[in-house]
Amino acid sequence: MSSDYINALLKKPIKRTPVWVMRQAGRYLPEYRHSRKKAGDFLTLCKSPQLACEVTLQPIERFDLDAAIVFSDILTIPDAMGLGLYFSEGEGPKFSHPLNTLKSIEKLAKSSVGDKLTYVSDAVSMIKKSLNGKVPLIGFSGSPWTLATYMIEGGGSKNFSKAKSLMYKNPAHMHQLLDKLALAVIDYLNGQIESGVDSLMVFDTWGGLLNKPSYEEFSLRYMCKIVEGVRREYAGKTIPITLFTKGGAMWLEQIADSGCDAVALDWTTEIKDAQQRIGNKVALQGNLDPCVLYASPERIRTEVQKILTQFSGNTGHIFNLGHGILPDINPEHVRVLVDSVHEFGVQNNN
Ligand code: CP3
Repeated sequence: MSSDYINALLKKPIKRTPVWVMRQAGRYLPEYRHSRKKAGDFLTLCKSPQLACEVTLQPIERFDLDAAIVFSDILTIPDAMGLGLYFSEGEGPKFSHPLNTLKSIEKLAKSSVGDKLTYVSDAVSMIKKSLNGKVPLIGFSGSPWTLATYMIEGGGSKNFSKAKSLMYKNPAHMHQLLDKLALAVIDYLNGQIESGVDSLMVFDTWGGLLNKPSYEEFSLRYMCKIVEGVRREYAGKTIPITLFTKGGAMWLEQIADSGCDAVALDWTTEIKDAQQRIGNKVALQGNLDPCVLYASPERIRTEVQKILTQFSGNTGHIFNLGHGILPDINPEHVRVLVDSVHEFGVQNNN
C-alpha cells in the first residue's frame, strides 16, 4: 500500500499533504461519546478490541483523514505492570498503586508486559482488517520518561515534584525504572508492528519539563533506545517512527539525531524555523495550535494556510495539531481543517 502519510514520513513523493489529528477519536465526536457510554467507561472501551476498533474508524468515516491511530492510551503499559489504572470523571488518569517507594521500583516486573496487552494487538488486527487498506494505521506508546512521571505521581500533576525529586535525589533508581519501561515499550511497539501497524509514534508529553542536561539524560536517551530497538522493516515494509516531545523546541536537533524518521512539533516553534534546523534530516509533523479550532472556519483556513506556506518542499510534512484536540471542539471545524490542508497543501495530480 502506498500512502501519502507514509511517503511524507519517508520524504518520498506524495500526491497531497497528508493530515491526521492527535486524539482524533475522542470526546469531541458524538459517535465517540455514544460508544464510550455503551462501554461504560474509557478503560473498558480501550480493553474491548471490538469497541476500540469501532471508535478508531469513526473519524476516518467522518473526515477525509490520511491516517488512523489505534484507539488506546499510553498508560496501558503501567496498568499491565500492575499499577491499577483508573479514570475518575473530570480528573484524568490515576493509579491505585503508584510507585511511591524505591522498593516498588525494584519490584516492578522486568518481564514482558505483552501477554497482558493482547487486547491492544487484537484491536490492531481487527482495525487493520476493517480499514482494508483505506489509510495506514499508526501504533503508539508513551516515552519512558512520560510514563514514569504518571507512575510516580500516581496520576497527572501540576509540577511533577515527586518524579523530579526522585530524578535529583536518586537518579540510579530513576534510570532503573526508565530502563524497565524502555524494554517494555520496545516489546509493546514490536507487538503492534507484528499485528499490523504501519508506523509508530512516541508521545513524550512531559519531556519539556526538564532542563537541557536532564532531558538528554532522562528522556531523550530512552527514546533513542526505542528508535534502535523497534523493527524498522517488517514484512517487506518500512515502519517509520515519529518522536513528539511537547515543549521540545530546544532539542529539535538532538531529537532529529536519534535516528527517527519524523519529529512532531507543538505549536510554539515556527515550522519554517524547525525546517531550517532539521528539515533535511527528518520529516516534520504539526503544528497548528489546537485552540485555533475554536475560531471561525475562515480563521482556521487562514491559520492552516500560514503553516502550509511556511513549509518549503514537496514532501516531508504531515499536517497535524501541535497537541491533542480538545473535547469541546465543534467537529465541523475539524472538517474545515482537514479539507483546507488538502486544498492549500501540496497537490500533485500528474
Ligand atoms: O489519538 C487518538 O485518537 C488515539 C488515542 C489516544 C488516547 N490517548 C485516547 C484517550 C492517544 C494517542 C492517547 C495518548 C495519551 N494518553 C497521552 C499522550 C498524548 C498527549 O495528549 O499528550 C497522554 C499523556 C495520555 C494520558 C491520558 N489519557 C490523559 C492525561 C487523559 C485524560 C485527558 C483528558 O482529556 O481528559 C487520558 C484519557 C484519554 N485518552 C481520552 C482519550 C480519548 C479521554 C477519555 C474519555 O473518553 O473520557
